[in-house]
Amino acid sequence: MTFLKMTKARYSVRKFTEQAVEKEKIDKILTAANNAPTAHNNQPQKIFVMQSPEALAMIDQCTRGRFGAPLVLVIAYDQNQSWKRKDGYDSGEVDVGIIGTHVMFEALEQGLGSCWVVNFHDDILKDSLQLPDDIIPVALISIGYIAADSVPSLSHEQRKELPETVQFK
Ligand SMILES: Cc1cc2nc3c(=O)[nH]c(=O)nc-3n(C[C@H](O)[C@H](O)[C@H](O)COP(=O)(O)O)c2cc1C
Repeated sequence: MTFLKMTKARYSVRKFTEQAVEKEKIDKILTAANNAPTAHNNQPQKIFVMQSPEALAMIDQCTRGRFGAPLVLVIAYDQNQSWKRKDGYDSGEVDVGIIGTHVMFEALEQGLGSCWVVNFHDDILKDSLQLPDDIIPVALISIGYIAADSVPSLSHEQRKELPETVQFK
């Protein structure tokens, strides 16, 4: 599949099977994450691989966004390591955004679905993972085999026309 076709084929999966994701596939996803560019190559990410029953139960305390997935990556960044511009702008969230995008597309390549989840209780997550204040969780990505009756939401088809978002100068 071309990359352009992959960008169309990916959708936010909200119904997974219980089938565990093989370690080999998880390793490839983590390698794709590790290959992502980050500002100044600072690599401030901290990735928590949540897959034990206890870890998944903890995720369910934080969000309704697991959708039955057997694997959730919590992607955070360390504020002490992320690159800052002179005016104070912190690139950490953008770094995580690119890393998470690599994760979603490698998951697709491995025949898996994913859903990016921002709607989580930050305080519960930080407490459960015992994160210090300078570790900022940005994204949960639920990953797993796609349920046979999973369908893209209507919003998957709702993309603005290019002229609404792009200007040629
Ligand atoms: C930064 C970000 C945060 C998101 N947070 C959630 C979320 O908390 N829960 C959820 O079900 N989907 C979440 N999504 C998925 C979006 O709703 C979805 O990408 C969008 O509606 C387009 O649909 P598609 O991914 O199927 O193409 C998030 C996506 C992004 C990029």
